[in-house]
Amino acid sequence: MENDQTRATITTAAATTGKEADHDDCHDLLIASLPKEKGWSSHQLYLYQGFWCPSVYIREEMAAQHFQARQKDIVLAINPKSGTTWLKALAFSILHRQHYTPSQNSPLLTSNPHALVPNLFLFQGFVDQDLNSNNAHSTRLLATHLPYHALPPSIKSLAIGCRIVYLCRNPYDTFISAWHFFTKASDSLEPLSLNDAFDMYCRGIFGYGPFWDHMLGYWKESSERPQKVLFLKYEDLKDNPILHMKRLAEFMGVPFSIEEENEGLIEEISRLCSINNLRELDVNKTGKFFPHFENKAFFRKGEVGDWVNYLTPEMVARLDKVIQEKMVGFGLTFKTSL
Ligand code: A3P
Repeated sequence: MENDQTRATITTAAATTGKEADHDDCHDLLIASLPKEKGWSSHQLYLYQGFWCPSVYIREEMAAQHFQARQKDIVLAINPKSGTTWLKALAFSILHRQHYTPSQNSPLLTSNPHALVPNLFLFQGFVDQDLNSNNAHSTRLLATHLPYHALPPSIKSLAIGCRIVYLCRNPYDTFISAWHFFTKASDSLEPLSLNDAFDMYCRGIFGYGPFWDHMLGYWKESSERPQKVLFLKYEDLKDNPILHMKRLAEFMGVPFSIEEENEGLIEEISRLCSINNLRELDVNKTGKFFPHFENKAFFRKGEVGDWVNYLTPEMVARLDKVIQEKMVGFGLTFKTSL
């Protein structure tokens, strides 16, 4: 869906050239017309459809609007640095458990979770086992960082019935995780100071953010349509993985059987997907799935409450105030320690 600004820019381009505007020109004009800010890594961030995004992804986001969801699709939606890698590993293992034994032949033992669950943008070109199957009855697993309002219409459609799993992490730990990732793990030329990054985060300038809009978009949807959106919290998953993996499996339409529970399969999957296990695998120690980030950058501490080691009382007070102002009244609460 284009916003008014996009439409206006494209129309102007067509009028200026006197012919149907070339798609690339339109894209460049669109980008040039958007508010922008210095980004967290080397990319600038642009305010596109109400969220901040590097320009390189805007074209993909526009193309993704044509994505045709299917009845059985499961879309994992996550704010960056909130547990995307973990949720991909868990959902993949739960969905494909008929084919793989966690400790013996799981693809997670040799592939990074990001290589197994494609991003929505990359989906069309993603060739992997049966994941891209043309069988309309198979369940496809996809992931995205897009905010709810910017999802392709077919994913949001109630008529199609594809389901969305959102993983939310407390904003304090998410910020620290992002700061480490973008300043230390990326190829960023000028790493952001903690103070500058914090200021941007509190002003909402963070990929796919503001974070409050990202969380509240999915939160509201899950409250109104719990059959469509499952809202999970990183801290709950850390605290009681078995309980929340059962919720996840049930929502995905593949509940664990009593036999599977008795055999300890849920615990086995939980162990396979734990950060301590994944971090030690060769593929995650030395591999590189994304061009700008090594696989190991996705496995840091994986704890709840690491923010206490970085944020000053003044910073905490400021973030508290932002959360209070932007999120009060919606009933979404965060655990900041376990
Ligand atoms: P920290 O930087 O706080 O350690 P994402 O996957 O969305 O990029 O999020 C990365 C965060 O999730 C990092 O947090 C990372 O350590 C943590 N993480 C990665 N794999 C995990 C796992 N299997 N279990 C729990 N946390 C995990």
